[in-house]
Amino acid sequence: MEKQKVHYSELGLVNTKEMFSKAMAGKYAIPAYNFNNLEQLQAIINACAETNSPVIIQVSKGARSYANETMLRYMAMGAVKMARETGSNIPICLHLDHGDSYELCVSCIDSGFSSVMIDGSHLPYDENVALTKKVVEYAHQHDVSVEGELGVLAGIEDEVSAEHSTYTKPEEVEDFVRKTGVDSLAISIGTSHGAYKFKAGQPVPPLRFDILEECEKRIPGFPIVLHGASSVVQEYVQLINTYGGKMEGAVGIPEEQLRQAAASAVCKINIDSDGRLAVTAKIREYFAKDPKEFDPRKYLGEARKELVKLIKHKNETVLGSAGKA
Ligand code: G3H
Ligand code: 13P
Ligand code: ZN
Repeated sequence: MEKQKVHYSELGLVNTKEMFSKAMAGKYAIPAYNFNNLEQLQAIINACAETNSPVIIQVSKGARSYANETMLRYMAMGAVKMARETGSNIPICLHLDHGDSYELCVSCIDSGFSSVMIDGSHLPYDENVALTKKVVEYAHQHDVSVEGELGVLAGIEDEVSAEHSTYTKPEEVEDFVRKTGVDSLAISIGTSHGAYKFKAGQPVPPLRFDILEECEKRIPGFPIVLHGASSVVQEYVQLINTYGGKMEGAVGIPEEQLRQAAASAVCKINIDSDGRLAVTAKIREYFAKDPKEFDPRKYLGEARKELVKLIKHKNETVLGSAGKA
């Protein structure tokens, strides 16, 4: 059966335009939470509705194939309806995280995404420009927002593996934004993906706010995106290690540095790993304490409850997005 095209507005979603201009003016950041399944999506929407925060729900290429693209489109539509039924009017954007090809971005746009990232950061500069521009041309015909990236984060960027990080070169940002027409730009200032961002036992090196400031000077008022922004909540790492896991040395970005970033031109902060840790910690704890239980609603329900707590905390005390919907 041929896949039916759908525009995001039919699903009740919005692009990032208004979200980002308000976040820039109000000096806060829009949370972008990754999800793969029902419980994560429910938690994100309920927590953001409770804190009255605008939200970007994002899926990686891997998440899209895990959840199934048709299922995902109806999940997003269901998420909007669920929020509205609880009386919440929060803006919800559905975003492709780390799109790695023009074809994937087009497929997402055609199936209801309101924003896509084309991650050409690993390509030579001119190829990154050409690929990003091509995606922008298609996306803008459909009023879909596009995020590009300059500089490479350490760790694993979906299927793009970067052994060593390369900081964004501020001297490239203006030219990149002008040539491609992107709506936001992800930069590399010392964050990385996953739960092991820095060497355990050593002082956490501060993010390179000097690079961020240089970028801001060259593209004033332009929305900047921070990837790899999980704090790697130590309470969860400890719970995981206590209940049979092995995550020694997991460490992330201190909340204070994220607050500083949120108050700058950083308009979108990406969080995936902290959600994974919360879910894993609670499930491990549940099984250890009640080994007889086998109803997934029980342990997934506990995990979902913890995710709501985590997301509310981030919106209220780190990103500053609570009350801004
Ligand atoms: O930046 C990467 C995200 O955390 C998504 O990761 O490809 O394992 O879904 P994933
Ligand atoms: P974390 O691994 O720090 O949560 O980063 C997620 C991310 O950048 C998704 O694009
Ligand atoms: Zn990322």
